[in-house]
Amino acid sequence: MAYEELEAAMRRRLGRECLYVPSCRLGLYVALRHWCPPGGLVLMSPVNDDVIFFVVLAAGLRPVQAPLDPRDGSLDPAAVPEELWPRLSAVLTTNLYGNPDPAPELAARCAGLNIPLIEDAAHAIGSESAGRPVGTFGQASVFSLSKHTAAKAGGFLTIADPGLRDALTKARDELLEPRGAGAELAYWARPYAEATVRGLRLAPAAWAALRLLGQQERDDIRMPLRPADLTRALSVAPNLGAFHSWARVDMHDYRATPGRGRLARIARKVGRLDAVLDAHRAGTRTLLATEWARPGPGPVQPLFRVPLLVEDRDAARAALARERITVGYLYDPPLDDYAGAAFTDPSPAPEPARWFARHALPVDPLKAERTIAVLRAAGVRPARGGPTGG
Ligand SMILES: Cc1ncc(COP(=O)(O)O)c(C=O)c1O
Repeated sequence: MAYEELEAAMRRRLGRECLYVPSCRLGLYVALRHWCPPGGLVLMSPVNDDVIFFVVLAAGLRPVQAPLDPRDGSLDPAAVPEELWPRLSAVLTTNLYGNPDPAPELAARCAGLNIPLIEDAAHAIGSESAGRPVGTFGQASVFSLSKHTAAKAGGFLTIADPGLRDALTKARDELLEPRGAGAELAYWARPYAEATVRGLRLAPAAWAALRLLGQQERDDIRMPLRPADLTRALSVAPNLGAFHSWARVDMHDYRATPGRGRLARIARKVGRLDAVLDAHRAGTRTLLATEWARPGPGPVQPLFRVPLLVEDRDAARAALARERITVGYLYDPPLDDYAGAAFTDPSPAPEPARWFARHALPVDPLKAERTIAVLRAAGVRPARGGPTGG
């Protein structure tokens, strides 16, 4: 088993050239290094995984936090000050939880400025924008197979220009580390460790076991920033190795050469992807019909998580935890509040992102019915205020 089978499956899905990568974050690093000269400014979403923020820094780039649409956390191009656009080296989308960023509009902007659009489609496999798959608009896009397929490893870097395949393959291979027995063991042990954690109702000892496997390292929503260490790492950027302790969070083998068994398992998961996406779409439809949702105008997407907007997010999360429903993928506070002006340009309009980050409860659509029952029983109220509420 080599990468070809997986790449062919993804190529059929997207209709463009695809390169297998051991993680979405590594694919993103390869893309940023290829398209963006060090020192450039990259517009990105502040409601995003901190790992992505550190990958942008590792690539020697300066993040600029974008204004967001508070309904779904998507980028709001209309709120980007006109004078900022010509200063950018690239735009990086997030497609948060699978809700598409306005890719056609952003692609047109980037084309006018002659800068790349790079799509992070980690959450958005199967999502569409203007009838086209997310991940087919930019010069490059990256996908994570750890999300919808729950493969816990793997991803794709996809490219608009197939002529770049060889150069990017070389760049990827130079970053790969040899397969380690420890990494393979952790990969196979992880589902069992997680099942134990659930079985023990999130017992601290079981979380400690997961931490030992390098798969669960954030005590809080955001990982510790460690500003002094980060300043030192920045002085040698671009350099992925210098950022290893941040870039590896939740996935220590993010740049490991995969073994045959792992690739075969990932291929089986990818083979079942359409059924998984159908189930995500059905659960999304159910969740969007509840009082906590603010559905947008477009078609129902097979969301990775459905961001319900609740008044007291932490209370809702605790009520779900009591029923053994874990809510992850929270990105609060926004990255500009988390990292500060030393490490990122702040958003020119931070409030909508803050509001969204504070109220969004990302619900797994595969657990829609159970989650709704728990939220109703706990009397969880929809978020007040915000874009359309009163
Ligand atoms: C928006 C987003 N992009 C990229 C990634 C990284 O994906 P991977 O874990 O495959 O590197 C994540 C991880 O959770 C994510 O949430």
